Amino acid sequence: MTNTPHIAPNGAEIAETILLPGDPLRAKFIADTYLENVVQFNTVRNMFGYTGDFKGQRISVMGTGMGIPSASLYTHELIHTFGVKRLIRIGTCGGLSEGVDLFDIVVAASASTDSNFLHHYKLPGTYAPTASWSLLSAVAQEADRQGLTLNVGNVLSSDVFYRADASDAKKWADMGVLAVEMESAGIYAVAAAAGVEALAVFTVSDHLFKGTETSAEERQTAFTAMMELVLPVAAAA
Ligand code: HPA
Repeated sequence: MTNTPHIAPNGAEIAETILLPGDPLRAKFIADTYLENVVQFNTVRNMFGYTGDFKGQRISVMGTGMGIPSASLYTHELIHTFGVKRLIRIGTCGGLSEGVDLFDIVVAASASTDSNFLHHYKLPGTYAPTASWSLLSAVAQEADRQGLTLNVGNVLSSDVFYRADASDAKKWADMGVLAVEMESAGIYAVAAAAGVEALAVFTVSDHLFKGTETSAEERQTAFTAMMELVLPVAAAA
């Protein structure tokens, strides 16, 4: 297996199912905490990637960096050079909907965007980046088993973190968009164009219209719940 400009496994294995946190140190944390028989497959640009066993199944985990340009290029290389078939983004999002609270779990059934990325497909209309039903339904079933409530719906994958015009966010909220993050529309489109499966699951780390006081301990507890939801799904997929 060859290397790409951004991923250099030098022959180390990459599993067909991969978890994709934005933060490469979070990828390391997941590998250290949850996986056994771990091999590191990438250090290029410190975008760490690992493959290991969860409940006897090989899965991989790698950072994507922030934003659609970064996430979409790693996703493209993982799929087209390394044969990845199922991509599960795990991350944080900012709540937009009044119905979403801090530390809730949000699952992106679809991902709207203010990015120009989708234009490069030159489609004769407006594309709707959509989650894989098999991964989404598997996460919903696992949440039922664990007694977890999910918020499933549309998210906004934005190119902008610090908005010049705060009323933009309200417009998306008024269209029923649950939360804002920065990668999923690109990951969903790259996966769809390649005919592979993708899903994005988040914990709400802040809320654009509600209080945002959170402790590190609360954030870690929420992250742990999300990991323990997604890992069995990844291992069974
Ligand atoms: N905006 C964009 N991405 C995010 C946010 C946000 O408020 N919170 C977590 N990821």
